[in-house]
Amino acid sequence: MTVGRGVAVEVAGVGKTFLLPHGHRTTFKEYFLHPFHRTAYERQQALSDITFDIAEGEFFGIVGPNGSGKSTLLKVLAGIYRQDAGTVRVNGVLSPFIELGVGFNMELTARDNILINGTLLGLTRRQINDRFDEIVAFGELERFVDQKLKNFSSGMQVRLAYSVAIQVDFDILLLDEVLAVGDQEFQKRCFETLAEIRRAGKTIVFVSHDLGAIKEHCDRAMLLLNGSIQAMGDPEDVLAHYDALMHRDAVGPI
Ligand SMILES: Nc1ncnc2c1ncn2[C@@H]1O[C@H](COP(=O)(O)OP(=O)(O)O)[C@@H](O)[C@H]1O
Ligand SMILES: [Mg+2]
Repeated sequence: MTVGRGVAVEVAGVGKTFLLPHGHRTTFKEYFLHPFHRTAYERQQALSDITFDIAEGEFFGIVGPNGSGKSTLLKVLAGIYRQDAGTVRVNGVLSPFIELGVGFNMELTARDNILINGTLLGLTRRQINDRFDEIVAFGELERFVDQKLKNFSSGMQVRLAYSVAIQVDFDILLLDEVLAVGDQEFQKRCFETLAEIRRAGKTIVFVSHDLGAIKEHCDRAMLLLNGSIQAMGDPEDVLAHYDALMHRDAVGPI
């Protein structure tokens, strides 16, 4: 790490539990027979005692099997979820590219969605107008600008969402697997933009099942398992750890 570089993301002792209702008491008869029964909740600990920092300008990868807490962690960083323990500090403007469809309205055209999504992500009307053509061109959506989003394939939606996300004046880009929905050619162009973003000194937090991409692009990586940090550091080491773990515990397909 370069001397003098600041910290982009500071996470200390973060925990997040979901309460899942269970034990159904859905019928009127049950309610009538047991009016004072409360719904029982099952606790699902999605993150426990997560502590790590990401330096400014770092390309930081997060890997782990399904259900290990990767998306929950990104949502906590983005402020979409509130952690129930620990602290999160984000030093800079975030561009969260986390879940497809968030901030998009399927009944509106791509044009209107760009306006709305760009505004939600902090662009002024004028900035959106200035960047509109670039957004559309990067997504290769020129012919579809005035079509409703519900007629877009998931690949087209990803292209649109990514094109808007990278036009925001962010310091930190959060990417959650979504790129995997795009085709190969688009992914390649995305990695080119990520390289540019990195050259500009911005920070990238990249969740992916594409272990080859993690190895190739990331400065450091973290392995999550059952909501805990299992390994962190050099991507090669972390992936080796992951590989050993998959073979030892047969945690299931990644
Ligand atoms: N909104 C939610 N409500 C209840 N449980 C959730 C919710 N989001 C995630 N979880 C649970 O938290 C755990 C971690 O999920 P997630 O962060 O989506 O994992 P990953 O992205 O690594 O696949 C899982 O057990 C999942 O079922
Ligand atoms: Mg996920």
